[in-house]
Amino acid sequence: NQFQRDLAPVAAGVDALAGALQKAQADRARLQRRVVSRADQERKAIARDLHDEMGPCLFGLRVEADALRDAAPDDTIRDHASSIAAIADQIARVNRSLLEDLRPVSIGQLPLAAVLAEYVDDMGRRFPRTDIRLSLAPDLPEPDESVALTLFRILQEGITNALRHADARHIDIRLWTDPAHWRMILADDGKGLDPDSREGTGLTGMRERITLLGGRMSLSSDGTGTAIEAILPLSQPL
Ligand SMILES: Nc1ncnc2c1ncn2[C@@H]1O[C@H](COP(=O)(O)OP(=O)(O)OP(=O)(O)O)[C@@H](O)[C@H]1O
Ligand SMILES: [Mg+2]
Repeated sequence: NQFQRDLAPVAAGVDALAGALQKAQADRARLQRRVVSRADQERKAIARDLHDEMGPCLFGLRVEADALRDAAPDDTIRDHASSIAAIADQIARVNRSLLEDLRPVSIGQLPLAAVLAEYVDDMGRRFPRTDIRLSLAPDLPEPDESVALTLFRILQEGITNALRHADARHIDIRLWTDPAHWRMILADDGKGLDPDSREGTGLTGMRERITLLGGRMSLSSDGTGTAIEAILPLSQPL
């Protein structure tokens, strides 16, 4: 009838709009993913340069300082040479921890489950008074590198925060997938977020990374502990 005929162009217009919106959303998600993976690539390049350029120089400096110390004609020169060697060692340590921050070596080389488990084991050894437990769903798929790095960062920052701020006895981390998402929950039984506390670099960075990958993060807390939940899309079209 006439009414339907009149409405037809409107309906077609709405369909076209919906289509355009969907396309715009897909474009946006793609762009956001590029931002994350570009940033990861840059970090990787910086890490490589630090490793390949700084490493050998520092080693050389150390060898020369040792040689100078051994050949020193007097104590003053020997002491200075020893100081130079000690400073070279210190820079090497800073370099190593920078490298580890820039890019956990094993992400992208070992299965994510192994990288997470190793980190948790290591923290467990370093902080024996806190019980840190990691439950990984069996048969987790292997995420691409930006998702893997994001999940690793959430784990790292979440555990660090619980150890630093919560005074927790237990930290419980679970990672699993539902049909469309990666899901991670990190819960501690500490004192909870102080109402006056401000989000620092840690939580802000976590949230930014998750959002850029099209996911979301929620933080809940009371006097019995804090929980962070992260949800990331499972499939990441590039
Ligand atoms: N698990 C937790 N239990 C209690 N308080 C927490 C917890 N996690 C974070 N907080 C509070 O939230 C604040 C912000 O955390 P965030 O990680 O963003 O920064 P930060 O840990 O202080 O510093 P950094 O930038 O080095 O991570 C913390 O200072 C702390 O007060
Ligand atoms: Mg922190």
